[in-house]
Amino acid sequence: MSAVHSPDAFESCPNGSQGAQRRRGSTVLNPRLYFKEELWQQAPVLIGSTAFEPLPDAKNILVTGGAGFIACWFVRHLVLTYPKHYNVVSFDKLDYCATLNNTRILDDKLNFTFEIGDITSPADVKRVLRKHRIDTIFHFAAQSHVDLSFGNSYQFTNTNVYGTHVLLERAREHGINRFIHISTDEVYGDVPVGAADLSETSILAPTNPYSASKAAAEMMVSAYRSSFKLPLITIRANNVYGPHQFPEKIIPKFTMLLQRRQKLLLHGDGSPTRRYLYAGDIVDALDTIFHKGVIGQIYNIASKDEISNTDICHKLLDIFGHPHQTPADEGKWIQHTEDRPFNDRRYATDGSKLAALGWQPTMSFDEGLKKTVDWYRRFGEVWWGDISRVLTPFPVVEGTEIWTKEEHDDLPSSDGEGPAEDNGEMWKWAAQERAQVLEFDEKLAPDENSEMRA
Ligand SMILES: NC(=O)c1ccc[n+]([C@@H]2O[C@H](COP(=O)([O-])OP(=O)(O)OC[C@H]3O[C@@H](n4cnc5c(N)ncnc54)[C@H](O)[C@@H]3O)[C@@H](O)[C@H]2O)c1
Repeated sequence: MSAVHSPDAFESCPNGSQGAQRRRGSTVLNPRLYFKEELWQQAPVLIGSTAFEPLPDAKNILVTGGAGFIACWFVRHLVLTYPKHYNVVSFDKLDYCATLNNTRILDDKLNFTFEIGDITSPADVKRVLRKHRIDTIFHFAAQSHVDLSFGNSYQFTNTNVYGTHVLLERAREHGINRFIHISTDEVYGDVPVGAADLSETSILAPTNPYSASKAAAEMMVSAYRSSFKLPLITIRANNVYGPHQFPEKIIPKFTMLLQRRQKLLLHGDGSPTRRYLYAGDIVDALDTIFHKGVIGQIYNIASKDEISNTDICHKLLDIFGHPHQTPADEGKWIQHTEDRPFNDRRYATDGSKLAALGWQPTMSFDEGLKKTVDWYRRFGEVWWGDISRVLTPFPVVEGTEIWTKEEHDDLPSSDGEGPAEDNGEMWKWAAQERAQVLEFDEKLAPDENSEMRA
């Protein structure tokens, strides 16, 4: 039986409460929930492969967003690779996409601490910096999902710009030896096909609210570097994929849809490309920059694996063994939806500055994708709780609460309009849709489906 149908897969975590207030027709994710020991212990412990001579002036490291995707890989890597040298404090507000399962393996390690807190709270940040005598900051915490930034852009400015400002200001007051700020290739904006890969000195030309908020945060970083001589390094990474990524992003989302035998909901014509880094590779790049990078510099972390969204669909269909070569076969598994309001065609960055420090990606995309799919097949349904609404085309997120777009459109307006009618109709409609999908599946592969539901 699929574990999403099994509340028994979860147990209450030592950190606190079981679930927030739920409004009508939504899912509330609870990032504090641990799933049961017997499942959790089967999960592989995923870290990078590099190990450097520890830095003499780094001891107590704060990692913001440590319960999220990339940072959890980096936290596990630092804690397990440098047990005698670095104390690592994961600082996270446990937003909808986070889960303490990401670092549960570290709970008994002496050099690991989890601190709940919000980077937009100067008091929270001051407390954690003082309490743990932090000398190094890795700043990952962000609103990271571009799709959501079109609908909830204030939250992106608040977390990504103001939150970064708070961290910088508190770091200045506290005094630190290194502040490593994680940014994205998206700050450069769209790179036309055939244009040269962009170096770190290229101008920033963001085109969506997410990338604009990341570029704005970089301006604040740059100002603190100049005005206060804060020891800053900025990192701009390509798209990252791998186990532990919240299934709102394309690779885990599409993997989970196929796992559920549902169609892939592809935005627009699927032609935009992105360059992809495996999570283990970015961890090694971050470790390299930490130990060998020069304060005051900006580093691109760049991959050569440029893949279109359609190609991702095809590669996943290959892994799941679904033919897609004819339009009819493809149509069984891929459904095109409306596109994002604006979608950059591609990003392309040059990684030679980091290559000079000795880093190169080692995981091929095809191999990394297989590893990723294997992990999601095993753990995707249990790691974060009920992800059904996350897998819909344009989910809406407020705090840790998630709706389908249609359900959210039906809610009373927060601008003071009257209450919405009961949305039972919506549920009937949704149930009908689910039934249709099942019917479709049944026609497609009756034997396989009855096996899956058994
Ligand atoms: N994922 C990618 O492909 C990618 C590529 C390039 C750069 N980046 C950057 O890397 C960083 C991490 O990305 P990710 O995909 O791992 O993100 P994620 O969405 O998986 O995790 C973000 C984490 O930040 C936490 N967080 C959010 N707001 C917070 C707040 N106010 N206070 C404390 N914690 C807060 C969340 O709870 C979550 O654990 C981000 O800065 C992102 O912009 C990501």
